[in-house]
Amino acid sequence: MKNIGIIGLGWLGLPLARDMQKQGFTIFGTTTSLVKKYELEKEGFHVLVVNLNEDQNRSEVQEFFKTCNFVFLNIPPSKCNFQSYQSQILSAVSFFEIGTKFIFASSTSVYSENVKIALEDSQILGDYNFSSQLFLTEKALKSKLNSDLTILRFAGLFGYDRNPAKFLAGKKSLKKGNAPVNLVHLDDCVSFISSVFEHNIFGEIMNVCSSEHPSREEFYSWKCIQGNLEKPEFEIQKDNLSTKIVSNEKSKTILNFTYKFDSPFQF
Ligand SMILES: NC(=O)c1ccc[n+]([C@@H]2O[C@H](COP(=O)([O-])OP(=O)(O)OC[C@H]3O[C@@H](n4cnc5c(N)ncnc54)[C@H](OP(=O)(O)O)[C@@H]3O)[C@@H](O)[C@H]2O)c1
Repeated sequence: MKNIGIIGLGWLGLPLARDMQKQGFTIFGTTTSLVKKYELEKEGFHVLVVNLNEDQNRSEVQEFFKTCNFVFLNIPPSKCNFQSYQSQILSAVSFFEIGTKFIFASSTSVYSENVKIALEDSQILGDYNFSSQLFLTEKALKSKLNSDLTILRFAGLFGYDRNPAKFLAGKKSLKKGNAPVNLVHLDDCVSFISSVFEHNIFGEIMNVCSSEHPSREEFYSWKCIQGNLEKPEFEIQKDNLSTKIVSNEKSKTILNFTYKFDSPFQF
């Protein structure tokens, strides 16, 4: 049975749903909005309104997902109650039968900004509060699901309507101009997730990030010029505090994956 659960039919989850549907999967997904549920149902998806910040009708949710043996779980920590993210994600997992295979969308923000090369086994915690919540959630999920779980640590999501250059355009005295960017294009994320399901790769942690890492200044100046936006100005930087380069070697090796947008200059 080709049924997949997508917890969060959002910016990433929805294009994934469309892609998996084209491949013959039936999609059982969630949104927090009733209006959006009706819109998504027009595309042929089964949709349930679920908000992890609120009490759920457990038996209704379990019944809805009961035929799904694969799940993509992608709820941003910033959209949940900060302190209870971990328990909210664990409660979402408990809607499913034992033996269900999960992909959890994490972030490369779990690595500190001043690590040189961020590899999957780098035990270095990120610098933001959300990063520590994510890291603790990863750990809790791993101990609960073991080899039924793959964690994908996505770099900054980019593509189509999501283009941070729009917010930086024309700004002055921006910081971290020398810092390398760690970004990944939406199309590569969708192909990568779909490939993990297709090849049944579970029990792994993988970074998902394009291979090239121009500096913030180089990349966003280029992106603004390309989009006819005013170039941003960066402060002259004395120290190089942000040196993080996220390695995607493991993702390429395990899945024999080729990034279509291997350089941010292709975005
Ligand atoms: N943004 C980045 O650069 C970045 C980088 C690395 C990793 N990630 C991860 O990538 C994943 C996808 O990010 P995204 O930008 O596509 O996220 P998004 O569109 O903001 O949200 C994803 C989904 O989560 C749902 N959601 C939000 N709050 C919820 C709640 N309290 N309870 C239940 N569902 C809730 C949203 O519901 P609605 O449909 O109602 O909106 C949406 O369907 C996330 O797990 C994020 O942490 C993001």
